[in-house]
Amino acid sequence: MWVEACGVSDVEEGRPYHVEVNGAQLIIAKVSDNYYALDGICTHEYAELWLGFITDETITCPLHLSQFNLKTGEVISPPAEQPLRTYPVKIEGQRIYIDI
Ligand code: FES
Repeated sequence: MWVEACGVSDVEEGRPYHVEVNGAQLIIAKVSDNYYALDGICTHEYAELWLGFITDETITCPLHLSQFNLKTGEVISPPAEQPLRTYPVKIEGQRIYIDI
């Protein structure tokens, strides 16, 4: 189900943007004009990934510095072991939609 999440201009390059969609806490990331949507809570312990840091296609958790691939959600660096769930993104006009 596609759900409108935010505007294109809300998401800055290299900075995770927090959205709440149907009660789920998600992040949207823009990297080289590509948009990615992932779960916004770290799979290690409870940390809000919109407070994390993006480098290239990687997001780093602000709490214990686990790293995840923004495109696939896979763990790049522990202590997290479980990947982040990812969601398809589409742009219509100036709005971002997530298939949740
Ligand atoms: S809560 Fe994210 S690495 Fe521990």
